[in-house]
Amino acid sequence: MNTDQPLRETREGIQIFGPQHFAGMTAAGQVTAQILDELGPMIKPGVTTGEIDAYIERRVEELGVVSATIGYKGYKHASCISLNHVVCHGIPGAKVPKGKNEKAGRKHDELIEGDILNIDVTVIKDGWFGDSSRMYTVGPIKPFAQRLIQVTHDALMFGIEAVKPGNTFGDIGFAIQTYVEAQRMSVVRDFCGHGLGRVFHSPPNVLHYGRAGSKAVLEEGMFFTIEPMVNLGRPESKVLGDGWTAITRDKSLSAQFEHSVGVTATGAEIFTTSPAGLFQKQAA
Ligand code: MF3
Ligand code: CO
Ligand code: CO
Repeated sequence: MNTDQPLRETREGIQIFGPQHFAGMTAAGQVTAQILDELGPMIKPGVTTGEIDAYIERRVEELGVVSATIGYKGYKHASCISLNHVVCHGIPGAKVPKGKNEKAGRKHDELIEGDILNIDVTVIKDGWFGDSSRMYTVGPIKPFAQRLIQVTHDALMFGIEAVKPGNTFGDIGFAIQTYVEAQRMSVVRDFCGHGLGRVFHSPPNVLHYGRAGSKAVLEEGMFFTIEPMVNLGRPESKVLGDGWTAITRDKSLSAQFEHSVGVTATGAEIFTTSPAGLFQKQAA
């Protein structure tokens, strides 16, 4: 008997893991978070997204884990790097499409001052998946871009606060959507979080919008991601001809944060918290 298997599945096909499985998810999540921590000092004008991905691929190897994205549905990179109006699944090393109000002048995939970017990394350690993404900034950025980043991170944390047995997946989406829209920003509908554990993407789809009390009931032992994408403009997105890069239709700025979490008896355990203590909630 393989003791790494989930205990059971709900009617909705959501896997339920045991208390003994949390340690594997923590170990995987902490490797992902450590790599995201290490990227900070690299993010400077002139650095290319291809170089950032090469660093991530090397660290994945050195840390003795496996990239979940290399070879996934034909994807070839150890990360997704999504700049400015790219919503998600930006391809490292690819020429960055020009956004609204953006001056021409970016050379291919290099970062320039004022850019905001999401870096999304998923590793597999001992068969467990750790999936997380964060925002980074290049030099000084505009105040509205800073606010978008702050609101998106707060939205993720409000979503996580709604995680406890007896609440529903709709409660998570509702917490995120009501907060974001009160800030006059919008929640992307076209992409969602997902169950994970021994596989990359499993049921349920974790929507970042919705009605309180709707959808499946949360149970102790569920593992999933919450990964809201928030736009300064309209919520609609479209995927470019490369089949991956999703951008905002109105070319407005977009931000995203992602954590992998597990439902405990009383709330949520975040598997992908920063070992360096970055993005911890400030005391009020
Ligand atoms: N890490 C992404 C997620 O949050 C998935 C990336 S799949 C890839 O689910 F192929 F684009 F890398
Ligand atoms: Co994910
Ligand atoms: Co991810």
